Amino acid sequence: MLPRRPPWTWFETGGDLVTIRLGILISGRGSNMMSILAAIRRGEIDAEVSLVFSNRPKAPGLAWARAEGLPTASFSHLEYESREAFDEAMVEQLKNAGTEWIALAGFMRILSPRFLDAFPGRILNIHPALLPSFKGTDTHQRALDTGVRLHGCTVHIVSPELDGGPIICQAAVPVQDDDTADSLAERVLVQEHLLYPRALALAASGQVRVEGGRVRIDDLPAAGGQALIWP
Ligand code: GRF
Repeated sequence: MLPRRPPWTWFETGGDLVTIRLGILISGRGSNMMSILAAIRRGEIDAEVSLVFSNRPKAPGLAWARAEGLPTASFSHLEYESREAFDEAMVEQLKNAGTEWIALAGFMRILSPRFLDAFPGRILNIHPALLPSFKGTDTHQRALDTGVRLHGCTVHIVSPELDGGPIICQAAVPVQDDDTADSLAERVLVQEHLLYPRALALAASGQVRVEGGRVRIDDLPAAGGQALIWP
């Protein structure tokens, strides 16, 4: 039986932190999943992948995960009569694989409370914008339209509010005058691939706590007075 662990606290067995069992949910190419797996294999995240799940059986990332020898599963939400029924089936599949934590990596579905309650405080998401700006889709074009000078990405803990929930970490990139949504997306994606493994490493090591809706990270070195100024 898996030991019980409250979210965001240390859990010890004989002095060792327990390796987290991580389910990764994807809908598309899965480049964030790839960066997470690479970091796990380099020993930077104390985690093992319990299951890669996709709601799109033909998602390219799923074929990649299979070829890497990861456990995978997939069924389409179109086969279920309601969001809750689909989420219930996902929970069952993920729990059967011993999943304790979830990383949403380009998973294009809103999760119902049924799913959130099954992994309380242990679902992470990456969003391609500096939240709380540009929640939802089309973030890069909206950033250009708004004229922000800094854009970026955010890893946060999933809450019932869409793209809400306590923020673990963020990366900012400059917006160039000649950027298109695609060039901006490309620049942000480079940072996503660094940021998500970092957030998961912090969470897996038990350094992340939520206090009053804000994330506190234990043993974080002081950032000093630096600021990112652009231009
Ligand atoms: C990423 O930009 C992620 O932030 C967003 O969807 C995209 C997925 O990319 N949620 P990938 O499937 O991880 O390559």
